[in-house]
Amino acid sequence: MSDIGPGDEELIRVASLARQRAYAPYSKYRVGAAIRTKRNKVHSGANVENASYGLTVCAERTAAFAAVNAGDTALDAIAIVIDDERLPTPCGACRQVLAEFSPDMRVILATTGGKRKVTTLGELLPDPFLPENLRR
Ligand code: THU
Repeated sequence: MSDIGPGDEELIRVASLARQRAYAPYSKYRVGAAIRTKRNKVHSGANVENASYGLTVCAERTAAFAAVNAGDTALDAIAIVIDDERLPTPCGACRQVLAEFSPDMRVILATTGGKRKVTTLGELLPDPFLPENLRR
């Protein structure tokens, strides 16, 4: 855990805006995410649910795929925002997807009510399966 740093509140603001575009008619659990890349670009996303529930994609992956699709694979930080008493916590699948690109990125967890926690992906997902594991 570390402190909120310069730029973190701005990233949270972008994630909150993305959250407004969440498509979550089933769970009503609306999540926004914003990723700052090492090139200092910001890409955001929200969760997108489906009537076939298992096809739902989380906000974190939507944001990560937006970054990758913009050619930006070096990820520096992600802010994740929900409107709840509890802080968000990214699911295991999203941790693994983010680790593919930046296993030690900064992770900023936030609520619309002002709660904050800063951690790292390395703390959330120690020993991820990485591209080098496929090298022989
Ligand atoms: N969800 C996210 O977008 N991110 C998370 O970290 C956890 C879960 C979404 C998926 C689904 O639309 C809803 O939240 C409830 O699981």
